[in-house]
Amino acid sequence: MNSIITIKAFSDNLIYLYCYNQNDAIAIDPGESSPVLKTLEKYELSLTAILATHHHSDHVGGAVELKKKTGCKIIGGDNKRIAGIDCVVESEQILTFGNINIEVISTPGHTSTSVCYYIPRNNENETGILFTGDTLFVAGCGRLFECDAQTMRDSLRKLAALPDNTNLYCGHEYTLENYEFALKIEPDNSLILQHIAEITKKIQKGEPTVPSTIAVEKAINPFLRTDTDRIKTALNMPHADAAEVFEELRRRKDIY
Ligand SMILES: [Fe+2]
Repeated sequence: MNSIITIKAFSDNLIYLYCYNQNDAIAIDPGESSPVLKTLEKYELSLTAILATHHHSDHVGGAVELKKKTGCKIIGGDNKRIAGIDCVVESEQILTFGNINIEVISTPGHTSTSVCYYIPRNNENETGILFTGDTLFVAGCGRLFECDAQTMRDSLRKLAALPDNTNLYCGHEYTLENYEFALKIEPDNSLILQHIAEITKKIQKGEPTVPSTIAVEKAINPFLRTDTDRIKTALNMPHADAAEVFEELRRRKDIY
């Protein structure tokens, strides 16, 4: 069984090591190198590749140093803004590592070249895995720095179309803040209250709040539900279309 190690970095970044074969690992969004190097040493793992979801330094700041120290390849969706990049990916490209296939999903919105990485399940006993960077967060989504709301919404819809039991690993520990915003939008949503209680326990124990699942996100994440009457009513936009509702929701989150 392949495993995922979550590494905390800076104040709220989450770096992941996806372990495969016996002792190989892929780092997702290593904003800094030292905690990754320590973890590789601790678990006796060899780093074969870095997958960057986008070019922001808190996601790729450690990549060049890791490449220097381990000889790994740097892979991402932006050929100009990711230093040391070896392989520029395109949407729907399949990356193969041993017997692991990783699918690239182009998800512009947070940046114009943001991508997510999806590892489909091999059989019914496994869950799929999705690394979303700053595109889809637990109970939220990334800020729109380089694209409009419609573009981000289209990207999120691609992710929402993945199987329900896909585990979602995002780039920041923003979960509690996102749930609190979601509750402000829908104060009577008991599912959100239930999740806040659960994740508060995890945070108190020092555990990360990832993974979430696509099923949970479709049920509670307001940014995936801007086509529903509940969210439209909550925003007092009963006749607006989903993209307009999304734009307004994102605007409110920006100033929350
Ligand atoms: Fe970012």
